[in-house]
Amino acid sequence: MPDIKFDFNNMFSFSVGKAHGVEDSDLEAMSKDVREAEEHLVKIIADSRNRVKLGLEWTQLPLQDKKLIKEIQILGNEISERYDNVISLGIGGSYLGLKAAQDALCPPYYNEFSAVRKGGPRIYFEGNNLDPDTLSVLLEHLVPRKTFVIVISKSGETTEAKAAFMVVEEWLKEHVGKNYGRQIVAITDPESGSLRSKVNAEQEKDEQSFRSLPLLKGVGGRFSELNMGLLHLAIINVDIQEVLDGAKAMGRRCSKEDLTKNPAFLYAVLHNILYRNKGKSLAILMPFSETLKSTADWYVQLLAESLGKKYARKVQVSSGGKEDWDRDPKNIVNVGRTPISCRGTNDLHSIQQNNIEGENNKVITFIRVDKFRQDLKIPGKNDILSGKRYSELIKLAQEATEWALVRESRPNCTIIMPEISPYHWGALLFFFELATAFEGELLEVNAFDQPGVEGYKNYMYFRLNKQGMPAEISQAIKNNPLIKDEKYII
Ligand code: PA5
Repeated sequence: MPDIKFDFNNMFSFSVGKAHGVEDSDLEAMSKDVREAEEHLVKIIADSRNRVKLGLEWTQLPLQDKKLIKEIQILGNEISERYDNVISLGIGGSYLGLKAAQDALCPPYYNEFSAVRKGGPRIYFEGNNLDPDTLSVLLEHLVPRKTFVIVISKSGETTEAKAAFMVVEEWLKEHVGKNYGRQIVAITDPESGSLRSKVNAEQEKDEQSFRSLPLLKGVGGRFSELNMGLLHLAIINVDIQEVLDGAKAMGRRCSKEDLTKNPAFLYAVLHNILYRNKGKSLAILMPFSETLKSTADWYVQLLAESLGKKYARKVQVSSGGKEDWDRDPKNIVNVGRTPISCRGTNDLHSIQQNNIEGENNKVITFIRVDKFRQDLKIPGKNDILSGKRYSELIKLAQEATEWALVRESRPNCTIIMPEISPYHWGALLFFFELATAFEGELLEVNAFDQPGVEGYKNYMYFRLNKQGMPAEISQAIKNNPLIKDEKYII
């Protein structure tokens, strides 16, 4: 199986000039930091307590037990055979990976044509917004008895998923009757959260009801597609083992000490140099593929939540190398490249103008696909396009975009996927996860928490009169109301 390739040439000064490109001396200057970051990551991953406690258990997901995968496959087959529709409820890490998988690994227009789905169920993603329009229409038109519901929430408390589940559960109960719970699988923390309590209570009454797949400890939402996304992969008939094998192979490639042979670490280091030394604070991911656009959206969450941090990480090491990480309140860093997702060739007619002529503050990562599932030949003889294939043109457009960027001294790099197979997609995801974890080490932040997301949640809970909120949070909200001067509401 050909491997994914990584072309970093256009990130170097010999392509885009000294002011905007990496030089060998930059790499040399970072060699000590790189070695320390690598050693630290290796050390944490080697220790199961550290992995779970610090949020790196996702590194073990490619090695999951084949028996478990088989059980998930059986459940997926059962759902596919019995139901016309699946509603998957979840947000953030409980949604974006599934959506990315579906768009990348299923043929386009999956929900529209039964032949494309090979008779499998249509899949609808909900619970990822509080906009009432989409779920309302869906529930007006789906047949409840023919609809299966997967609710995914690690915490079991996230407002969007919780609200949607309450609505959908009521809808099922009303139309299906007392056994409605048999049409539900919940994927949530094995011990805590209101969804877990609900699952436990329902299973006591009927063990066929509210079947549940656990989320592993130490696997944060955005790193969890290879855990919480597996049932969805089984339902859409994607070979789970192939996805895991791709990730495993990428894991092996990215365990090499030699930076020039380790794509995830090299990706992180080059971006880090351009970010810190050359002011490239925007990270644009532009797959030249319609079906990888959602994978780019998934990456936005991965990068933004992992590396966009206010405080530096404070590491405490106890005996036996056990580590605890905390935020260092004395060390405000406000770091993190800002991710933007788009896709070629569509967005060559939108964001690309800014990429080329706007502020030179970005690095663009392209994903090029060597072999598409299908191809189209353009008919006729008298046009420059006649006789050309779409696959040739999209590759040419990507090469042309690289060239245009390099001409304007805009650093970029290209990930070359032989094809969008389950194997290569699994490898791609794992590559980005490892690169992000490594960049977290270089930035010395905790890449596995997301405290910034709490602000809006706390405000909502306060306004919804949630019981048991910490007094200092309630007080901070009371003391700092939004200023709404009528003069500026026009
Ligand atoms: O990466 C994360 O952990 C978060 O973005 C979560 O995925 C997101 O907030 C959804 O959380 P939950 O799965 O608890 O509903």
